[in-house]
Amino acid sequence: MNRLASTRSKSRQAQSNWLSVIDQAIIAAEAAELELSRQGGNDPSQQRKASGSYYTPADVAGHFWDLFFRHHHICDLNSLLTFIASTDLVEPSAGSGMFVFSFLKKAALLGATPENLTSLRFHVVDINLAALRFFSERLREIERAVGVNFDGIGPAQKDFLEWAKTSAIANVVFTGNPPFISNARGSRWRNLYADFVEVMLSYRGVKGVSLILPLSVCFSRDYADLRATIRAAGMGISASSYDNIPDCLFKAGKPDSTNTNRANSQRCTILNIGGPDPTLREASPLLSWPSAERATVLSTVPAFRAFSNDDLSGQIPRPASDMLADYMRGASGARPLRTFLSKIGKPAFAVGGVARNYIGIRDFEKFGPGCIPIKAHSEDERGLVLQVLSSKLFYDYWRTYGDGFHVTVDLIERFPVTAALADYCKHNQALAHQVWANRAACAKEKLNSGQVIRSYDFRAAFDDAHSVMA
Ligand SMILES: C[S@@+](CC[C@H](N)C(=O)[O-])C[C@H]1O[C@@H](n2cnc3c(N)ncnc32)[C@H](O)[C@@H]1O
Repeated sequence: MNRLASTRSKSRQAQSNWLSVIDQAIIAAEAAELELSRQGGNDPSQQRKASGSYYTPADVAGHFWDLFFRHHHICDLNSLLTFIASTDLVEPSAGSGMFVFSFLKKAALLGATPENLTSLRFHVVDINLAALRFFSERLREIERAVGVNFDGIGPAQKDFLEWAKTSAIANVVFTGNPPFISNARGSRWRNLYADFVEVMLSYRGVKGVSLILPLSVCFSRDYADLRATIRAAGMGISASSYDNIPDCLFKAGKPDSTNTNRANSQRCTILNIGGPDPTLREASPLLSWPSAERATVLSTVPAFRAFSNDDLSGQIPRPASDMLADYMRGASGARPLRTFLSKIGKPAFAVGGVARNYIGIRDFEKFGPGCIPIKAHSEDERGLVLQVLSSKLFYDYWRTYGDGFHVTVDLIERFPVTAALADYCKHNQALAHQVWANRAACAKEKLNSGQVIRSYDFRAAFDDAHSVMA
């Protein structure tokens, strides 16, 4: 072997050794979750819930950094080195250090050697001393194996909210998975994660915030002010959201009790705030996947779609289709569906209060929970509302802005009807009449608490109309 070939082979060997010791730290960090998360309080059985210690699986942390690198346009070794020379990373609630070790892995896969990362500044904060000790020991093991010290990676045992008050660092990007813990009644926010986000956004040297958060951050009224603060921060926003059925990001799930409510804690959003384009507004649909496709989903960049900063909903939408995203961008000033509805008179039909694969239209039988009566001023408006609520567009609107289960009065009433859509529906009244008259052909029945519920699935009936509306 000549000298050049021998040098190359040694450097390949060193890089593979470097990757392998990082992998060992990642495996250890994942395995230590139960042990570490119970330490730090008086009652180990309660400590996990009380500190929100549900650590991030390695594959999710890898996905997180893929999206982070994309968001910050870090695509090769040069851009990585430029980024770390100008940025201090802060993990506010590091646990066993999964995010730090996964960052090293992502950097190594881009070709960074241990020597390249000696200047990396990563502040690793947590209240749990046992977790930080564990983290430091794993880091020392990596240092010994590669013969390099990472002096800029420093643990700090502190309450993050205190840490933020007492530190003053420029060009900070916060990264990680903060604790999801219900706050006491009367607190500013219902959940501690929102305090973390607010403190990060108001940190003097903030340059970015990248976190795994409960999906509630996107749509819950409780966090409307937090979203307004996020939008007002003058930074780019990229959000990808993950359902909890059939698979979910956190393999063990996040149980109920003090660790916030079950559904939201298991459905998550990876939120990237910051990056080179302060006007960026993009979001993925609510992603769901069978467990056999987990590896594919977590190694793929989701389909991001642009949304408007002035999106009327005030949400971070989960755009379900290009058609819906395009429609909403052109819908400012459109009449809300509410203005086609009447408050008086006999309901013309009803809408099922929950949905899955379609919005269920029903015959109105009686007022009560589980269905929304629809009243219209005239026969024509009844036809228009029927077409709108049966459309693929409205179904995608529900998937984009709904909570994933409920069809609410508010959601129906706020749907923006553009002049073009209203015109189209007006010209299509004959079809609406015909579909309603023959509705039995579209009936679907299911048993609900011993009662047969009949609803109409009009997707196919109005299919031609849907494409024209788009
Ligand atoms: C959801 S775990 C995340 C751990 C790690 N980031 C990960 O994803 O694997 C939340 C962590 O927050 C820590 N924690 C809880 N309250 C905190 C606080 N006020 N300040 C700093 N850390 C806190 C817990 O000790 C726990 O390690």
